Amino acid sequence: MRVLSVASECAPLVKTGGLADVAGALPGALAGQGVDMRVLLPGYKPVMAALDAPIELTRVDDLFGASAQVLAQTAKGVPVLVLDAPHLYERDHGIYLDGNGQDWADNPQRFAALSLVAARIARDGLGDWRPDVVHGHDWQAGFAPYYLHKLRVGVPSVMTIHNIAFAGHADPGMMGELLLDPADYTPEGFEFWGRVSSLKAGLNYCDKITTVSPTYARELTTDTFGMGFEGLIRARQDDLTGILNGIDLAVWDPANDTVAPHYKSLKGKEKAKKALRAKMGLPDADGPLAVVVSRLTEQKGLDLTLDGLEPFLSDGGQIALLGSGASELERAWEFAAARHDGLAVRIGYDEDLAHLLIAGGDAVLVPSRFEPCGLTQLYGLRYGTIPVVANTGGLADTVIDANDAAVKVGVCTGIMHTAGRGDATAHAMKRLLDLYADRDTWSKMVKNAMRHPVGWDSSAAEYAALYRSLI
Ligand code: ADP
Ligand code: GLC
Repeated sequence: MRVLSVASECAPLVKTGGLADVAGALPGALAGQGVDMRVLLPGYKPVMAALDAPIELTRVDDLFGASAQVLAQTAKGVPVLVLDAPHLYERDHGIYLDGNGQDWADNPQRFAALSLVAARIARDGLGDWRPDVVHGHDWQAGFAPYYLHKLRVGVPSVMTIHNIAFAGHADPGMMGELLLDPADYTPEGFEFWGRVSSLKAGLNYCDKITTVSPTYARELTTDTFGMGFEGLIRARQDDLTGILNGIDLAVWDPANDTVAPHYKSLKGKEKAKKALRAKMGLPDADGPLAVVVSRLTEQKGLDLTLDGLEPFLSDGGQIALLGSGASELERAWEFAAARHDGLAVRIGYDEDLAHLLIAGGDAVLVPSRFEPCGLTQLYGLRYGTIPVVANTGGLADTVIDANDAAVKVGVCTGIMHTAGRGDATAHAMKRLLDLYADRDTWSKMVKNAMRHPVGWDSSAAEYAALYRSLI
C-alpha cells in the first residue's frame, strides 16, 4: 500500500516542533506494516541542501507565480518528495515566520501550493508511484482533501490534527487566487468565523480524521479545547480516532545516546546528571534536578511553573530549562535564573543540549494547558526522567500518577496535576520533592518508567489499519 504523507516539516531535515518528529518517523515505522510512505515536503533551504542526488520527477507550470518541480530522494533516512519552488520556499528566517517574527504574508499560497501538488500527485502519479491514500498533517496540508475533491480524484484522504490552535487563516478575498470555489465558502466547506481556513477545509473534505492521543480526541469535542472546531468535530466523531505518537527508540536511547553519558539504570544515570550540572553551571545538590525542553508559549504553561518556583528551589530542588518562543516568557525565566543559584536557563534551540537535559534530569516538567500528545514526557519515560505533567491530552494517556493506589501496587511512572492552575503545578513540585526523598518508591518509579513502551509499534499498526479501511 502506498501513502503520500503531506507535511510542512520533517525531522531530521527541518523542524520547529513535534510534528516534524512524527512526519519523519512515520515512513520508517510503517514500512514494517507493509506501507510504502513518502513525505511531500516544501523545498526550504535546509531541505534543498540535504539533497545530494535528487531525481526530478515532474514539473509544475505556474504554481502560484512561477514554475516548480518535484524532486525525489531518500534524504537523511526519510523518503521525501520535495516541492522545489524557490519563489515560495527559498528564504532566510523561519519556515513560517519572516525576519520580524510575523507570518509570511503569502503563507496561504505557500501551503495551498503544497496541498495542490499533493492532489495532483494523487491524480497523475509520479512515474509508476501513485498513492492509495493521501495523509495530510495540520493546516498546512488542509487544502489537500479539498483539491482532491474538486479535481475529482478518487483517492481517499486522512487528516491528522497535531494542534488545533492553528487554523490556517486566509482572507476571503484570496479565494480566486487560491483556486477555492466561492460556492464552498460555507461552514460545510472552508468558511471559519468569517475567514477562510485550510484546516476547516481539510477536516470537512477528508475521509478520516485522526489526532495524536485518545484523550485529545475527546477533548476536541468540547468548547474548551475545540477552539471553534468543536461543532465540526462532534459531527464527525465517528470518523475521528486518537492514535498516540511514538518516539524514535534509536535516537532517544539512554544506553546509546549520541551526546550524554550512557546508562541502563538509575545508578548509571548519576554520570549524566553530573555532566548536565557541569554544562549548565549548577552546583551539586541532594534534591531533584527537574528539566524543561520546550517551546515557550501560552500552550506550554511554563508561566505557571515560574509562579511556584520559590518553594521548590528553597527546599532543595533545581531546574534546568532550554526553550525559546515568546519574548516576555524568555525574559521572565532569564530574570528568575539571575536570582536563583538552583535555576539555569538557556534560551535557544539546541538538539544536543536537549539530549543531555533529558538524560541528566531526575524529572521533566510538562505543565501544558493543553497538549495533543507531547514528546518530551515520552523521552523522559525512556530515560527514567520522571514526567511531572498536566492532566490533559497525550500527557494523560502516557503517564501513571504516583497516587497512593498506584504507589501501593507499584505501577506509577510520574506525577500528574490539574492543567492550567498555578497552585496545582506548585503542589506537583512539592510532591516531586517528597517522592524523590523516598528512595525506594523513587527507584521503583524510575524502573517502571523505563519499561513503559514508547515506540511506534502499536500506533503504526493502527495507522496501517486505518489506511486499509479506506481502500
Ligand atoms: P510541540 O510540538 O507542541 O512543540 P512536542 O513535545 O510534541 O511539542 O515536541 C517538541 C519537540 O521539539 C521535541 O522533540 C522537543 O525535544 C523539541 N524541542 C522543543 N524545544 C526545543 C529546544 N529549545 N531545543 C531543542 N529541542 C526542542
Ligand atoms: C503538536 C502538539 C504536540 C504533539 C506534536 C506532534 O505540536 O503540540 O503535543 O506531540 O504536535 O504530534
